Amino acid sequence: MCGIVGVVGSANATDILMQGLEKLEYRGYDSAGIFVAKAGGQSNLVKSVGRIADLQAKIGDAVAGDAGIGHTRWATHGKPTENNAHPHTSMSERFVLVHNGVIENFKEIQEEYLKNDTFYGQTDTEIAVHLIAKFVEEEKLELLEAFKKALNIIKGSYAFALMDAENPEVIYVAKNKSPLLIGLGDGYNMVCSDAMAMIRETSEFMEIHDKELVVLTKDSVSVTDYAGKAIDRKSYTAELDLSDIGKGTYPFYMLKEIDEQPTVMRHLISEYADENGAMKVDADIIKAIQASDRIYIIAAGTSYNAGFGAKQMLEDLTNTPVELGVASEWGYGMPLLSQKPFFIFLSQSGETADSRQVLVKTNELGLPSLTVTNVPGSTLSREATYTMLIGAGPEIAVASTKAYTGQIATLAFLAKAVGEAEGNEKAKAFDLVTELSLVAQSIEASLSEKEAIANIVKERLLETRNAFYIGRKQDYYVAMEASLKLKEISYVQCEGFAAGELKHGTISLIEKDTPVIALISNNPEVAAHTRGNVMETVSRGAAAIVIAEEGVAREDDDIVVNAVHPYLSAISMVIPTQLIAYETSLQRGLDVDKPRNLAKAVTVE
Ligand code: F6R
Repeated sequence: MCGIVGVVGSANATDILMQGLEKLEYRGYDSAGIFVAKAGGQSNLVKSVGRIADLQAKIGDAVAGDAGIGHTRWATHGKPTENNAHPHTSMSERFVLVHNGVIENFKEIQEEYLKNDTFYGQTDTEIAVHLIAKFVEEEKLELLEAFKKALNIIKGSYAFALMDAENPEVIYVAKNKSPLLIGLGDGYNMVCSDAMAMIRETSEFMEIHDKELVVLTKDSVSVTDYAGKAIDRKSYTAELDLSDIGKGTYPFYMLKEIDEQPTVMRHLISEYADENGAMKVDADIIKAIQASDRIYIIAAGTSYNAGFGAKQMLEDLTNTPVELGVASEWGYGMPLLSQKPFFIFLSQSGETADSRQVLVKTNELGLPSLTVTNVPGSTLSREATYTMLIGAGPEIAVASTKAYTGQIATLAFLAKAVGEAEGNEKAKAFDLVTELSLVAQSIEASLSEKEAIANIVKERLLETRNAFYIGRKQDYYVAMEASLKLKEISYVQCEGFAAGELKHGTISLIEKDTPVIALISNNPEVAAHTRGNVMETVSRGAAAIVIAEEGVAREDDDIVVNAVHPYLSAISMVIPTQLIAYETSLQRGLDVDKPRNLAKAVTVE
């Protein structure tokens, strides 16, 4: 969440920051701010609620300098107010900080170190800058040492850019789990959340890894670990394609689209909830579902799996039974339908012929329908009674990723809106905006595990011919999607299984080193049983890989996913499996984006 920019050593600092923030607006747009300073001269802090354009309107010619930091915010701790907008300052206003991420122990820090401080807002970031200031002003540490000391206390995810108004010739930068890059300019240097922000200024970038600290001046970049050990980091040239359908710096569209998922979640929040968190779903759709006695979700492939990912949430929140139908099967004839059916067609492309075949039949029967799709104006959208758009942006890789998670999230807005209209207590209590923001953070945390996942693939999946994903309940549905993804792009024969079903036959396929990937989300009762099933396969020689959610995770689990609301766990738990599929395909030297025998939109039955 949130976008960060910084520049040191350019007379155009304000301009560079503002142009950068515009490019980062997709990362959050409920408030923004910049701090700009001139060496030995004045400094300015300008913040505004709203878009970058609102901030621009407040910035006059007087806001000029040769260094500064800026931020565009997606509120996590504290409402989107001017006080809560970044940059944040210490009480003396000498130290200035921008932050992307969530400081988990901010309350403990406040209680232990900052009892007597006064705060103007509610953000965790304000606490961080007070902590740093305390170490300089009371303990008389140099700023770099104070920053290091604070970093060793702070727990959570962060990308920080820190300045001292009394010495604005240096920007201090650190990161853990949140993205941040250094941009190398001609006579000046920059920092940004995403290369797009600075591509106008430079194509030379330098990565920063987790728990690294960078000291940036106009002509130097020093990278160290938190203990001060120097790190030699080479720069790289970013070949960015700025258009929407470009791959940017990515080797494959699939990886780009996997990485875009936090943005998709944020976009959906702004699309289907207002600033007070109230649902913005078409009232006619809500009424039509309220009038029905059963929801039929029709879809193919990954979209079908997404339907399962949303099934329990839809049933719980709308009080309406949900049945799933494989489009290519239902096209031959409907099963016995309920008295008042409502059809939902899930389709990324909106063009899948199998799904359309069923839609044609529902239209012949005069039944109401909704298409949830990523493509406005697509056939299924045009022919259904209603449409809800996922708005995930073009999905170009054949293997669907962001459409799957976007579909489940879109259905969450629908489920909550219908449930609220029904007076369903669970729907009223489900704070979807907050929960989906947490999902976006969980995705970001999983995305930072790419290297670990690449190693798991190298050690345990590279040579195998077959594999299993297992899980119970919600995890079983994710197992189905995870196995489809792995099969589709890596050609590993993989089955997604209800963990308890293995012992009823399939376990005979387990041999020495057969990979069994267990999905264990935060449901203690289910988790214990799935772990039992994992042990059964290990006893028969399987190479187990455990992906567990916080709350039920154990120290030796291979991948730990940040905890989210149980209704949304199909979104967060699928992310490592997407990366496993991507890495397996990549390491096997296959064409990740265009697996053999497939096409993106399947327009034949
Ligand atoms: C798998 C995949 C396919 C599609 C399926 C339906 O990664 O992309 O299984 O999900 O062909 O396509 P849409 O959603 O366009 O109807």
